[in-house]
Amino acid sequence: MKEVIAITAMDENNAIGKDNKLLCTLKDDMEYFRSVTEGHIVVMGRNTYRSIGRPLPNRINIILTKDKNFPIPKCLGCRVMHSVSEVLSFHSNLNNDKDMFIIGGEQVYESFLPYCNKLIVSHILASFDDVDAHFPEVDWTKWEPIGHPLGEEGWVSADDRNEYAFSTVIYRKTV
Ligand SMILES: NC(=O)c1ccc[n+]([C@@H]2O[C@H](COP(=O)([O-])OP(=O)(O)OC[C@H]3O[C@@H](n4cnc5c(N)ncnc54)[C@H](OP(=O)(O)O)[C@@H]3O)[C@@H](O)[C@H]2O)c1
Repeated sequence: MKEVIAITAMDENNAIGKDNKLLCTLKDDMEYFRSVTEGHIVVMGRNTYRSIGRPLPNRINIILTKDKNFPIPKCLGCRVMHSVSEVLSFHSNLNNDKDMFIIGGEQVYESFLPYCNKLIVSHILASFDDVDAHFPEVDWTKWEPIGHPLGEEGWVSADDRNEYAFSTVIYRKTV
C-alpha cells in the first residue's frame, strides 16, 4: 500500500526551525532521511525548498506554492503544485507504489498531517530559543511507536557528527 509519511526532526517543544533554517546539524539523521526518501516522492513548501536551495536528487520533488508563476526547477521529476488535493490526487493516481514523504515545513506539515498514516520523528534532546517554526500538535493517543531505526536502544549520542543526542521513532496511525 502506498503511504503518506511525515518526516521531521523536532526539539522537546515541537520546534522545527528558525530563520528558515533547521535548528541544528544531525548528520546521522540526514543520512537516514536520504536513505528512506530516495526513490520516493518528497513534498515541501516554498520556504523549505528555498532553505534547501535545490531539488533533492533521486526523488520526485513536489514544491507547494499558491504562486501560479513559480518557476519549475529544471530537474527530472520536479513539479510545482498549488493545493493539497492536487498533491494527494497526483500520488493516488501514480501507477506505482512510491510512498509520499511530507518533508516540511510548518505550514506543509499542518496541511498534510490529517492524510498521513505514518510519522517519522527524530526527537532532539534539546530545547531551542527564539524558534519560529513548529510541528503541529499531534494527538499521540492516535499513534503508536513501531520502530527505532537508529542508534543504541533507539538513541544516537551527541558527537562530532550530531550536535545533539536524538531518538528517531517511527509511528503508525492507529485510528
Ligand atoms: N526540522 C525539520 O524536520 C524541518 C523540515 C522542513 C523544514 N523545516 C523548517 O521549517 C521552516 C519553514 O516552514 P514554513 O511553515 O515557514 O514554510 P513551508 O511550509 O516550507 O512553506 C510555506 C509555503 O508553502 C506554500 N504552501 C504551504 N501550504 C500550502 C497549501 N496548502 N497550498 C499551497 N501552497 C502552500 C506557501 O507558499 P506561497 O507563499 O508561495 O503560496 C507557503 O507560504 C524552516 O525553518 C525550515 O528549516 C524543518
